[in-house]
Amino acid sequence: MRIFVTKNYQELSYKAADIVEDYLKNSSAVLGLATGSTPMGLYRELISRYENNGLSFQNVQTINLDEYIGLDRNHLQSYHTFMRENFFSHIDIPSHQTHIPNGLAEPLDVECSRYEKLINEIGPPDVQVLGIGENGHIGFNEPGSKFSSETHVIQLASSTRKANARFFDSVDQVPTHAITMGIKSILKSRQILLLASGTKKAAAIKRLLDGGIDEKFPASALLQHSDVVLIADREAWSEVSSSSETIFNVEYL
Ligand code: F6R
Repeated sequence: MRIFVTKNYQELSYKAADIVEDYLKNSSAVLGLATGSTPMGLYRELISRYENNGLSFQNVQTINLDEYIGLDRNHLQSYHTFMRENFFSHIDIPSHQTHIPNGLAEPLDVECSRYEKLINEIGPPDVQVLGIGENGHIGFNEPGSKFSSETHVIQLASSTRKANARFFDSVDQVPTHAITMGIKSILKSRQILLLASGTKKAAAIKRLLDGGIDEKFPASALLQHSDVVLIADREAWSEVSSSSETIFNVEYL
């Protein structure tokens, strides 16, 4: 794992955009994308480079990690809406080249198989952008998820529903289930770009680097991948032990 520690969230977003932009030099790149607060600065920066520096997404394909079950794609809090409003509608990517699981599909197991097949056919992503849950989830692979899992339906942990309640009127409105790429699906990506910002993520980053590989902490599966880049800002990095700092290859920006 290569690690960059940045002064703040803005610098984290620039560094992440530099890495993603490198893949876009190959115009037919496949990007694995995440939703949530963490990658918003990355998306803003990529939009700015599209508007001001001629960066193009015309031949890029994107594969998103997850979607809530039961929300229409036009629901304000669906991940389809999130991606459209925060990224896709601001760049030149044709919508048929963007892929997100369909949370209203029936039956859901057929949708999961369709999505995994799509990952194998147009992917795997050259680079997969990931955030991390306070409980260590990646995608919506909650603690205890099998590392051998492919795209599947998952019941959201109550801590995840509470954390995501900030986007809804109340926690009761947060869906109870989601479709998520599995850990095995995520690990197929050629490179993984894990982003972590803020003190709320400090314990998870410490656990990731200090705690060993364990299905109880899903992000620890990333330690089995040969090309992971972690970008953490100072706040997210603040609890990592000095022994981990010496074991991993850490660069302070
Ligand atoms: C979102 C996703 C989640 C988030 C994680 C962190 O597509 O897969 O794993 O990355 O919940 O969310 P934020 O960035 O909002 O703290």
